[in-house]
Amino acid sequence: MTLKRILSGVQPTGDLHLGNWLGAIRNWVDLQEDNESFFCVVDLHAITVPHDPNKLAKNTLSTAALYLACGMDPAKCSIFIQSQISAHSELCWLLNCVTPFNWMERMIQFKEKAKKHGDNVSIGLFDYPVLMAADILLYDADLVPVGEDQKQHLELARDIAQQRINSRFSQGDKAILKVPKPLIIKEGAKIMSLTDARNKMSKSDSNEGSRIGLLDEPEIIKKKIKRAKTDSEIGLEFGNPERPEANNLLSIYSIVSGLGRDKAAQECSEMGWGQFKPLLTDATISAIKPIQKKYNDLISDQTELKKIIQQGNSRAKEVSNQTLKRLKESIGFIKEDY
Ligand code: TYM
Repeated sequence: MTLKRILSGVQPTGDLHLGNWLGAIRNWVDLQEDNESFFCVVDLHAITVPHDPNKLAKNTLSTAALYLACGMDPAKCSIFIQSQISAHSELCWLLNCVTPFNWMERMIQFKEKAKKHGDNVSIGLFDYPVLMAADILLYDADLVPVGEDQKQHLELARDIAQQRINSRFSQGDKAILKVPKPLIIKEGAKIMSLTDARNKMSKSDSNEGSRIGLLDEPEIIKKKIKRAKTDSEIGLEFGNPERPEANNLLSIYSIVSGLGRDKAAQECSEMGWGQFKPLLTDATISAIKPIQKKYNDLISDQTELKKIIQQGNSRAKEVSNQTLKRLKESIGFIKEDY
């Protein structure tokens, strides 16, 4: 049986938060068991908005360390740095030349981010989804585990592969690029802000109190949950559109406590917020504690971390170069070994 390929990534823009963990990384841990998995730190994506050069390298290593701390095992997956694999930028250019401008104009995340950055919107930000398509298509990924917000980007990657490459350039029925599928696991796919549960938890929210960082100290977590927005009802419940805060905080609790939705809903159905919040705080702190410990070990002596990245980079180069070569030849470039 051939193993399925998995690819996913996170931007190294500041410390990862509960949404990144519960919506994406947590699911990678199981997937690495039965699939050939690639997890990259997408630092090229991180420079699509203004960035601090003094922080980029540090955040890149810290993101890779968090992958490991969350349970990624270098014996079972490859962890690599996007900017160190030049095939990503090269494939991005090739895909740019076949992707219609009007497909890109529909991208919701671009529109949202562009609003925030006003006159300072780079071409890179507009092109972000094509670079993401390149990340995925280079590894012939079957499945891409992501949170709900990435669904449209995945559809774009599929459309580029199918409609703009395979149907135009394939000879016979052999596809040039594998058409990937998103893997969005409903539980945790959309963790919302602590200060306004109508918006998703996001690294770019200027209010630190809106998110729980995976590296937040217990005292900070306690404070953030204490200040999290609530309503005046008694009893936590799922699925009431009038009570987005109850839905969000109960969802978080159901995952971090390990109870699952039904048991968590039952336990908290008659609880007031004053009783629920300390429970959520303790469960969150306990879930994050082992991650923080492992992270601190990896960061205090980075020898092992760097070795793992080098191994991952080398496997990523091997696979991505083969796809790039195949695509270049299919679309008419002269062969390198002519
Ligand atoms: P990033 O860094 O914004 O998010 C990383 C992952 O975290 C998920 N996520 C969430 N899940 C649930 N609730 C939230 N509030 C929340 N916020 C973020 C995202 O869906 C994502 O899975 N564009 C990608 C990075 C990327 C990528 C790729 C992903 C670049 N190339 C190739 C997969 C494959 C992104 O959103 O990063």
